[in-house]
Amino acid sequence: MTRSVARTVVCAVAADEAERAAHHRVRRAVFVDEQGIFAGDDLDSHDARDDVLHVVARVGEDVVGTVRLFPLDPADPAGTWQGDRLAVLAAARTAGAGAPLVRFAVATAAVRGGRRMVAHVQPANRRFFEHLGWTARETEDYAGRPHVFMTIALARDHQAPVLDEPGT
Ligand SMILES: CC(C)(COP(=O)(O)OP(=O)(O)OC[C@H]1O[C@@H](n2cnc3c(N)ncnc32)[C@H](O)[C@@H]1OP(=O)(O)O)[C@@H](O)C(=O)NCCC(=O)NCCS
Repeated sequence: MTRSVARTVVCAVAADEAERAAHHRVRRAVFVDEQGIFAGDDLDSHDARDDVLHVVARVGEDVVGTVRLFPLDPADPAGTWQGDRLAVLAAARTAGAGAPLVRFAVATAAVRGGRRMVAHVQPANRRFFEHLGWTARETEDYAGRPHVFMTIALARDHQAPVLDEPGT
């Protein structure tokens, strides 16, 4: 009998140049090469900010996913945070990396004092976010394409983020 072994997904803020480079490779693979939302690279001014957190999801040694988060107002980390650049490599999807990345971003923003998190979500992912407790507010144009503006309240009593979850 064949037995499938659950792989553990570990999410962490990129801690060094190598992890940041891996984070950017995944983003480029998904948003430039696969989706064609950006030409060349998907870097923007937020990537240069010191207070922007670049997160990686690993399965074993492999970085398979990313998310980025930051306070919308750098002077107000107790206010609204944005999560974006959520990406899982095509070959690693529906194996339990995307949900932990979103939960990690929410928990991290909460632990750092944020009150609310917002995201500009591709319509195809609205249900995915709703399943994780987010609320759709309005449709909008973002990065030249239709998106859904979604929000989630950040719990004041949030524990430090859970770093890993079994993949399925
Ligand atoms: C959206 C994305 C990050 C999801 O990552 P993933 O690793 O496939 O997600 P998970 O495996 O953790 O999925 C968790 C659950 O949500 C479901 N799910 C995944 N994508 C979904 C979607 N678009 N709509 C509805 N449900 C979805 C999964 O089937 C799974 O369900 P289960 O718990 O019943 O098994 C991934 O599809 C992706 O990178 N897409 C391309 C880039 C992108 O669209 N980024 C988001 C921009 S808003």
